[in-house]
Amino acid sequence: MTKLLLQALRREPTPRRPLWIMRQAGRYLPEYREFRKSHSFKALAGDAELAAEVTLMPLARFPLDAAIVFADIMSPLPALGIEFDFDPGPVVEAPIRDAAAIEALRRPDPEEVAPEVMRALQLTRAALPETTALLGFCGAPWTLAAYLIEGRGVKEFPTLRAFAAAEPALLDALLARLTDLMGEYLIRQAEAGADAVQIFDSWAGLLSEADWKRQIRPHLKRLLDKVGAAGVPRILFLQNAPHLVAAYGELPAEVLATDWRLDLGQLQRAHPERAIQGNIDPAVLLAGPDATRSATEKLLASLDARGHIVNLGHGILPTTPIASVEALLETVHAESSNT
Ligand code: CP3
Repeated sequence: MTKLLLQALRREPTPRRPLWIMRQAGRYLPEYREFRKSHSFKALAGDAELAAEVTLMPLARFPLDAAIVFADIMSPLPALGIEFDFDPGPVVEAPIRDAAAIEALRRPDPEEVAPEVMRALQLTRAALPETTALLGFCGAPWTLAAYLIEGRGVKEFPTLRAFAAAEPALLDALLARLTDLMGEYLIRQAEAGADAVQIFDSWAGLLSEADWKRQIRPHLKRLLDKVGAAGVPRILFLQNAPHLVAAYGELPAEVLATDWRLDLGQLQRAHPERAIQGNIDPAVLLAGPDATRSATEKLLASLDARGHIVNLGHGILPTTPIASVEALLETVHAESSNT
């Protein structure tokens, strides 16, 4: 049986567009909140059986076309010897700010990198219907470096940007290490059962286009090339970086995914050979099912259905009403009965 998401990713015609939701296994689900009463996020993500169970939660409730493994962009970093916690975002115990900290990073064997994520992928794959795609993911090297250098998510990441200006060679060395690690990590996720992988570049937009092209792009390009050479389909997600979208479009990825700020139709017309993913504003779902339905209809009408994977423009918000998610699904599924 064919997977709708993989057909759309290859720009093959499909009876309707596939849909999955970023952060679909999260706090908007009552069953997830129930789980979180007895387990910390770290405990859930760190235990393959529990992580697989959480990964499947949204699929049990909604007919989504993909599952995304329940982990975090920080999950592979303990293998480098990095210690962190969540409050609620990642907080790094000893932020990386000098050469000694980069030299001290461990060089792990591949099987030491997030074994719980590989096991969770295998368990999830075994439990999923054949028609549902399984996605792996990682953070883009720059987005990971943002947490490692700044220490935690803060507005505009000033320490990170200062580091990029003061220590370009150290930043380069750190990005190179992260690129090596993420390349192997994504390929191993595909071997463990992921049909495609998404690279989250949530903090891509912090630098100017010129600095991004000089300091960041070569690493991201190398990561994408390595994963592509292994035959693993790539979804590249760019968040809050409208000034970089043209440069992103030139990077090698089967799917370009963006947040809600960008006009996806324009992106599709600029890259007719690519699939695209997105991009309903997650806040629209807070406005209820009617607002969700009309935003979804408007998005669907603005794009060529071929090669469009429907998603939100960023993670679903914890206060999202379940009825809005249902309205989103109904609107996307209505396409197959219309045609
Ligand atoms: O989509 C999914 O269901 C898969 C799981 C997933 C998580 N994090 C679980 C998580 C994915 C794909 C991520 C990616 C991630 N993590 C990103 C990139 C995407 C984005 O949002 O831009 C980033 C920047 C992180 C770092 C991170 N982890 C933040 C900022 C936070 C706190 C934000 C929040 O939602 O509270 C986390 C913690 C985290 N990662 C949670 C989940 C479900 C919340 C933990 C909880 O309280 O239950």
